[in-house]
Amino acid sequence: MNQPMTKTVLVAISRPETAKMVETALISRGVGATMTNNGATARDLIQREPPAIVLAEMELPLAGGLELMELALAQDRTARVVLVSRQDSLREAMAAMRAGAFDVLADPLDLRELGDCLDRLLGGRRAEACDPEAGRSVYGHIIGESKAIRDVFRLVDKVAASDSTVMIYGESGTGKELIARAIHHRSPRCHKPLIPVNCGAIPEELLESELFGHEKGAFTSAIRTRVGRFELADGGTIFLDEIADMSPKLQVKLLRVLQEHKFERIGGAKTLSVDIRVITATNKNLRHAVQEGRFREDLFYRLNVIPVTVPPLRERRTDIPLLVGHFLKRFKETKGGGVQGIDPDAMEKMVHYAWPGNIRELENIIERMVILADGDILTMEDLPGRISEAKPPTPSGAVPRVTEDGVDFNQMVEDFENQLIEQALELAGGVKNQAAKLLNLNRTTLVEKMKKKGMLV
Ligand SMILES: Nc1ncnc2c1ncn2[C@@H]1O[C@H](COP(=O)(O)OP(=O)(O)OP(=O)(O)O)[C@@H](O)[C@H]1O
Ligand SMILES: [Mg+2]
Repeated sequence: MNQPMTKTVLVAISRPETAKMVETALISRGVGATMTNNGATARDLIQREPPAIVLAEMELPLAGGLELMELALAQDRTARVVLVSRQDSLREAMAAMRAGAFDVLADPLDLRELGDCLDRLLGGRRAEACDPEAGRSVYGHIIGESKAIRDVFRLVDKVAASDSTVMIYGESGTGKELIARAIHHRSPRCHKPLIPVNCGAIPEELLESELFGHEKGAFTSAIRTRVGRFELADGGTIFLDEIADMSPKLQVKLLRVLQEHKFERIGGAKTLSVDIRVITATNKNLRHAVQEGRFREDLFYRLNVIPVTVPPLRERRTDIPLLVGHFLKRFKETKGGGVQGIDPDAMEKMVHYAWPGNIRELENIIERMVILADGDILTMEDLPGRISEAKPPTPSGAVPRVTEDGVDFNQMVEDFENQLIEQALELAGGVKNQAAKLLNLNRTTLVEKMKKKGMLV
């Protein structure tokens, strides 16, 4: 299995301004790099973990760029090496290219030239990164290479082929709808429609006729016959979003569709039958709703055949730089403007922030920054206060600070509990009995908590 792309880029440059420029340009493309300003260290790093990409300075102390290139190519013939030279001499550059360099850049660097070079360099790598055997960073157009999200992709691959009913859990903005679409598009039903219905946004009566349709004259405002979403989805997939908000009456009707694949339009006498796959999503705890009698238990079990949980962004922080790079590129293309990237300090803050609104929040913030930024590199000044003031995630033992902007008490307590439970489970090798002992909790209490948090579905 290949290493994820982020681990295989080495930057060996001694001039601080140049190093920073290269690092920023890489980060803004969603790529992390190992940085060194010392030739001997670079040599060690290449020997220990042959990088796929090297950006090295010709005049680097202790081992120059040409030597590093030779070493990197000896370890991995397909490695790509870009040399950065303070002597802008054509003869030298030609010699370096002949010796196998991917490109030679003159230092001080020209931002556009650097950008073009990196795009060509990474463009080739990206195609490889889509190879299912490689550390994958793009799944369709869903970005992510953290273990947490790759587990989700793997599950999606497995369930897509089947016709099973899937329930997608996840906080708001985590990408539940994208996952639902990915399941449909990878399924044998992909040539038929995917019909989404937001069950939370529509009042009961409207939702009923939206889903089941109605006959002309079924009620006063029914001036013509209407085909419902279930009929439209025939042969394809229906995606019922925010399912927890569905009224008891509609829950009964939905249950019948699931059991018998049959229903009638409102006011209609004819029974219609449909062939549909059902995918649902919720950001609520449905088991809770069942316990409190707000959601039918029989319906819950019908819908929860294959649960897929999309993790919140704060539990897959390694995806943040990738997503930042992705949205920067997208908004640069659609909104124009001169923003080329984001500096490392600002990126660090983005990585540390808790993202209660998850990817949707990140997307909105990048859009706003791209439009409002003054310079061509986003800095701390461009970040909204709640992000520039974000503290690194609480190291164990420390208590998070309440800031002037206020904090989300419930979220912080929840995060803290999650961390404790995860640590205990890790120490206990996943054995709940043992984990409960480490936490001085009853096993039942621990299991209840885990259920409530959706750690056990
Ligand atoms: N992994 C990802 N890569 C790229 N974009 C993503 C990813 N996940 C989510 N997004 C984007 O974030 C936004 C929110 O995603 P989506 O609507 O799927 O989330 P959701 O969980 O359905 O949210 P809500 O609960 O608010 O309906 C969308 O614009 C989506 O394109
Ligand atoms: Mg949604």
